Amino acid sequence: MTGKPELVAMTSSHVDSVMAIDSRVYARPWSRSMWIKEIEDAGRPHLVALDGSEVVGHAGSMYALDEVHLTTVAVLPERQGEGIASDLVLALLDQAVRAGSSAATLEVRAADRRTQRLYSRFGFAPAGVRRGYYTTPSDDGIIMWLADLQSPELARRLDEIRSRTPGAAGSTTQSTEQGILGIETSCDETAAAVVRGGREVLSSVVSSQIEIHARFGGVVPEVASRAHVESILPVVGAALTEAGIDGADVDAVAATHGPGLVGALLVGVSAAKAMSLVWEVPFIGINHLEAHLYAAFLEEPDLEMPLVVLLVSGGHTMLILMEGNLQYRVLGSTLDDAAGEAFDKVARHIGLGYPGGPIIDRLSAKGDRDAIRFPRAMMSDGWDFSFSGVKTSVVNHLRHNPDTPIEDLAASFQEAVADVLVTKARRAARKYGARGLCLAGGVAANSRLRQSVIDVCEADGLRAFVPSREMCTDNAAMVAAVAWHRLRADGPSPLDLGADPSLRLPTS
Ligand code: KG4
Ligand code: ZN
Repeated sequence: MTGKPELVAMTSSHVDSVMAIDSRVYARPWSRSMWIKEIEDAGRPHLVALDGSEVVGHAGSMYALDEVHLTTVAVLPERQGEGIASDLVLALLDQAVRAGSSAATLEVRAADRRTQRLYSRFGFAPAGVRRGYYTTPSDDGIIMWLADLQSPELARRLDEIRSRTPGAAGSTTQSTEQGILGIETSCDETAAAVVRGGREVLSSVVSSQIEIHARFGGVVPEVASRAHVESILPVVGAALTEAGIDGADVDAVAATHGPGLVGALLVGVSAAKAMSLVWEVPFIGINHLEAHLYAAFLEEPDLEMPLVVLLVSGGHTMLILMEGNLQYRVLGSTLDDAAGEAFDKVARHIGLGYPGGPIIDRLSAKGDRDAIRFPRAMMSDGWDFSFSGVKTSVVNHLRHNPDTPIEDLAASFQEAVADVLVTKARRAARKYGARGLCLAGGVAANSRLRQSVIDVCEADGLRAFVPSREMCTDNAAMVAAVAWHRLRADGPSPLDLGADPSLRLPTS
């Protein structure tokens, strides 16, 4: 179950589950007899959050004179970061307002800044310190105070928090969410980003190693891993600073765990796990291909499905039918070189440098794309692709015609690749009744491919989703975006999740 939990009054049937949660989140959980007494006391209302029949969180209060004291709030570790604690606090405050209370108080560990932040969003402010209030581990207690429970201003604040809670009509984000930190180190980009609610990009920092690898004409795995180790902490620091958020306040930490270079992936995965342990937030391992698919959603929140996606990068070429959120079918993929690989290899063979895609793209702008008719392999043949033939043709053509202007060669090669990709995507859109065509992956930055998709969509009455170039190439915003969906669908990943260099796209 992954829906929004339902909040109900706690009864004795919930005690076992509540104690199980407390044993995981509190150093000194209450005993069963304490709980039974609490439940029987009408002045001490407790709520549980139920997902189906499972208790995923609970919170309690205690009424004294005209004040309410919030005694406890706890959420299952794997369900933290979803806003459940916030919903529970909101419900307790609503109850207190209806009961006519005039103020609310609570105590929280001095070291627990995350919880203090949660309460401050409701209007609680620190009012005093109780030295050594907590034992095991020992800590001061911060007394927080919320006056004027009956004020219109508080009513407005609670309404605002309520209206932004997921599940409420017309809303997708939640004001109590801080954002997920995403990390990407699968290839030659070290990237970190903070994204709130799966689509609001608070920061996105990308440190490219392209210059380092250009000397070798391609990515050197060992060099990539070392460069990631050097950049990861500064890049994460920059992403947090730019988002204006403290590491300890992020809702979760996500990292790409495959596919990619194993040594490079391990840097991001290890860093993310360490941060998740220190900050006590969920860790989520993300599939790089799925992240590319979600990049478009960051810019086009109202993408309509079914949708045909061309996922074209340095390592992959896939024609995908996206039928719903996190639901896709791979219709076809490349039998040999990936589209980006073909660009890179052609560029290397004719001495243009690395990475080939952007160089060929730039040269093509000044060339004639109809100058040479390069072969379109498997054009009318199923959904798969093959790009090694066109690569060989380009190299052979130049060998036999050394005077060919390099711009014409580049433009004609680029046209052949774009033509096959877009023709098949268009046919798939027709066959499966897609609403639109979407581009994803590094090669989606290609000018000719972008234009062809736009032209075809216009002709066929489809919507064209062409993400910005920054979103097409490797970045961490797409990692944090898909993490938001995955956390809701599957919960956090286990901390023993490894890097998987050949991870495949999960298909429905
Ligand atoms: O998605 P990405 O950044 O990394 C992978 O996951 O592979 O894609 C990198 C690939 C490289 O092969 C690069 O040459 C290609 O994307 N690329 C382009 C362009 N920009 C990047 N290919 C064609 N035209 C471009 N403008
Ligand atoms: Zn990529």
